[in-house]
Amino acid sequence: MSTNIDHVLHEDRSFPPSEAFRSAARISSEEEYDAIWRRSIDDPDGFWGEVARQIPWIKPFDQVLDWSDAPRAKWFGGGQLNASAVCLDQHLISGRKDKTAILWEGEPGDQVSYTYAELHDAVCRFANVLKARGIKKGDRVAIYMPMIPELAMATLACARIGAIHSVIFGGFSASSIRDRIEDGSCTAVITSDGGWRRGKVLPLKDVVDEALADLPGSDEAGVHTVLVVKRTENDVAWHEGRDCWYHDELAKVSGECPPEPMESEDTLFLLYTSGSTGKPKGIQHTTGGYMVGTYLTTQFVFDLREDDIYWCTADVGWITGHSYIVYGPLANGATVVMYEGAPNQPHPGRFWELIAKHKVTILYTAPTAIRAFMRWGDEHVDKHDLSSLRLLGTVGEPINPEAWIWYRQKIGGGRCPIVDTWWQTETGGIMMTPLPGVSATKPGSCMKPFFGVDPVILDSDGVEVEGDAGGYLALRKPWPSMLRGIWGDYERFVETYWSKFKGMYFPGDGARLDKDGCTWIMGRVDDVLNVSGHRLSTMEIESALVSHGAVCEAAVVPRPDEITGQAIVAFVSLAGDASKSDELVAELGAHVSKEIGKLARPADIRFADALPKTRSGKIMRRLLKDVAAGREIAGDTTTLEDMSVIESLRDG
Ligand code: WT7
Repeated sequence: MSTNIDHVLHEDRSFPPSEAFRSAARISSEEEYDAIWRRSIDDPDGFWGEVARQIPWIKPFDQVLDWSDAPRAKWFGGGQLNASAVCLDQHLISGRKDKTAILWEGEPGDQVSYTYAELHDAVCRFANVLKARGIKKGDRVAIYMPMIPELAMATLACARIGAIHSVIFGGFSASSIRDRIEDGSCTAVITSDGGWRRGKVLPLKDVVDEALADLPGSDEAGVHTVLVVKRTENDVAWHEGRDCWYHDELAKVSGECPPEPMESEDTLFLLYTSGSTGKPKGIQHTTGGYMVGTYLTTQFVFDLREDDIYWCTADVGWITGHSYIVYGPLANGATVVMYEGAPNQPHPGRFWELIAKHKVTILYTAPTAIRAFMRWGDEHVDKHDLSSLRLLGTVGEPINPEAWIWYRQKIGGGRCPIVDTWWQTETGGIMMTPLPGVSATKPGSCMKPFFGVDPVILDSDGVEVEGDAGGYLALRKPWPSMLRGIWGDYERFVETYWSKFKGMYFPGDGARLDKDGCTWIMGRVDDVLNVSGHRLSTMEIESALVSHGAVCEAAVVPRPDEITGQAIVAFVSLAGDASKSDELVAELGAHVSKEIGKLARPADIRFADALPKTRSGKIMRRLLKDVAAGREIAGDTTTLEDMSVIESLRDG
């Protein structure tokens, strides 16, 4: 018997762009979008060939796509380029050399900005430091840094000399760093003495030292160099021979560093992401396709203009930061805002203050952040002038309609389109999204495929689902910025992504298409519940809970149940003024019944002061499942941001 996923979320509001936005947009009608998308699918070689020729190549490619060895794709074969030259050198001769590239603000309020000429110079010097330390083309370099300009420079400097960077998010633990360094056989680490977070210094170098303590050292095949950028006055231990201060090395090198010609399919970077089981996967991205993909998506999804001040609030430690702070925006010559610290430091209006101060026009952030701001209260938003904003974006998880509407009204003043962008570490760039000048956006829908993306929704037998039923999302066509493998484990790559449905990429998400052909992501398929034979997306129940005024955030997990197979357990954290009571439990149950149907009514609603999250803000449902079932917490908890959260849930 085939199965699909029942959907229960009803959302029929829609918000077309204003006439002013539409008329100025790059693409301004459904017909235009349809025609370009159709061509990208029918003639991908023609389409991607034209796009690719818009970025500078050192040697032109002679083939667009070779898919004969699928799923090993070869894009832009024969071509040579350098990602740092695409991001920097081209702008020195295109009239952007004095344009601001990076506008940075530290958590304590210090500011630095770099023009394209200055950033080019800094990256060339950084690259020469790496070379002087013996780092060469093909070497893997781990980067563990705070959100300071040197983080972006470090990635571009690696790219400049053809070294493969592996950025590890600055919140990860020593053992996570060790695993990633080992898996990638990194021979150098770039870090800093510390970084500011919530008014404190994170001692990054100490964590690196701890990670390296039981790895082979410089005399063996291990890490021979730890390059330390001075950010704070934090005291650091020193390993003579291995450790060096960036500023000391900088004094010894010149600003002359021609970009290394790289084959289109040479690896640009590794970025680790967790799978549903097993050790983290080193997702491997290559140079040509990744640059083409991030270049094009940045331009069209954000409808980028020359005078935009663009701010993506992600950390460079995640794919969002790689693609939409560094490579995509810089390839387009954009002015990028970068902020080091926490959104509520020193006050819960810090983001809005930054937007007002720097006259940010495009803001790209995550639903989890939006919900936090909602909880902190409108008064922190109201103090600041957000009229410079013209476009908003979200990414990372399905956004519940309540948060979407708040984002649109409170932050966007009702005038800014919202692009809800669906993609993954593996896809390299945005795959499904509204186009801001075209789509009548629906709160919670990522709308339509981007150019070249050919999605389909299947049941468990691989048969396309009928009508607006939910099912497994799959992609039928390769795309330039797709992952090329899992580092060191090609079999796992084939098994994880290319085996569920023959000849198609399986991202692991459930989705449905509504009657207008708009896509609704229903979350990871491993977050799907089965209650009395009805398969339900946890996200839809969570959305219903959050739509109740008393609820700030909700996580829904299954608990084994003798009668219904699984029963729904909801963990909710309450909005500021709500208080915990049995009446409220009953009210919330009734509310879910009303919003979705009785089948979705949680069997158990528990109040939580906070929900367990990963350092990137994703709720760790896996742990909540154990709590809900009254089991011992099993498996890895190293990615949990705050262990005490889970302890208090269990004890409570
Ligand atoms: C997973 C990928 C893409 C960069 C950040 C996360 C979920 C992502 C959306 C969205 C619904 C989304 C999916 C996806 N996701 N964006 N707009 N709507 N779900 O990257 O850590 O690789 O996670 O995040 O489940 O598979 P990632």
